[in-house]
Amino acid sequence: MRTPVLAGNWKMYLTPAEGRKMAETLRSLVAECAGREIVLCPPYTALSAVSEALEGTNVFVGGQNMHPAREGAFTGEIAPPMLIALGCRYVIIGHSERRQYFGETDATVAEKVRSALAEGLIPIVCVGETLEQREKGVTDPVVEIQVRQGLAGLSPEELAGVIIAYEPIWAIGTGRTASPDDAQQVCAFIRSVLAGLAGDKAQETRILYGGSVKPENIKELMNRPDIDGALVGGASLKAESFARIARFE
Ligand code: G3P
Repeated sequence: MRTPVLAGNWKMYLTPAEGRKMAETLRSLVAECAGREIVLCPPYTALSAVSEALEGTNVFVGGQNMHPAREGAFTGEIAPPMLIALGCRYVIIGHSERRQYFGETDATVAEKVRSALAEGLIPIVCVGETLEQREKGVTDPVVEIQVRQGLAGLSPEELAGVIIAYEPIWAIGTGRTASPDDAQQVCAFIRSVLAGLAGDKAQETRILYGGSVKPENIKELMNRPDIDGALVGGASLKAESFARIARFE
């Protein structure tokens, strides 16, 4: 049985004070939620405040990105030990916005994933196709390349510990969700690619869906066999809506 993961990606929203307030409200709304991992990924500047507010609760914290090196002359970057020092257990890697606006590639994703695992962070690796690719019918090959190249060189045990987030780019922030069946189809396909790389261990890898997830559609998504949770953008900014998602309400 795979433990569901409900992760909120705040992107470039919320100040430390706003983040703390949201986390303080969320922690009581989900205090009774057992048997799942609930994660908030605030901007770097709010990590400390949010971690403090969530200390000793069942809500964990993650980064939205990281540099693969432990330290160095990389102005503006954040190293994995810095995330860990601020209470992070998880880190999002290769989000489509990082790929689209900041030049990230499957090669940089692979480097960051290896580094995150070596440092003890759980990577949430994002993959997904554009609208044009979906309309051309090439979703599966596009996602397969992202999975194979982004996770290159990992052992079956490491592959079991990675979280993959399937986020079709056309569904991000658009209000247009992939249908639960379409999301399931791609998540099952991702698991079959993983099975080729990790054998039975692929059954342990958590695969999330992301793209306009909201309280209204979480239940149906969670009913699908290969969808093990969600990576949530907009609806994770408000404690009430993210709590409803975390509770599958
Ligand atoms: O990483 C989460 C994401 O890209 C989805 O965003 O706002 O469509 O839930 P949203």
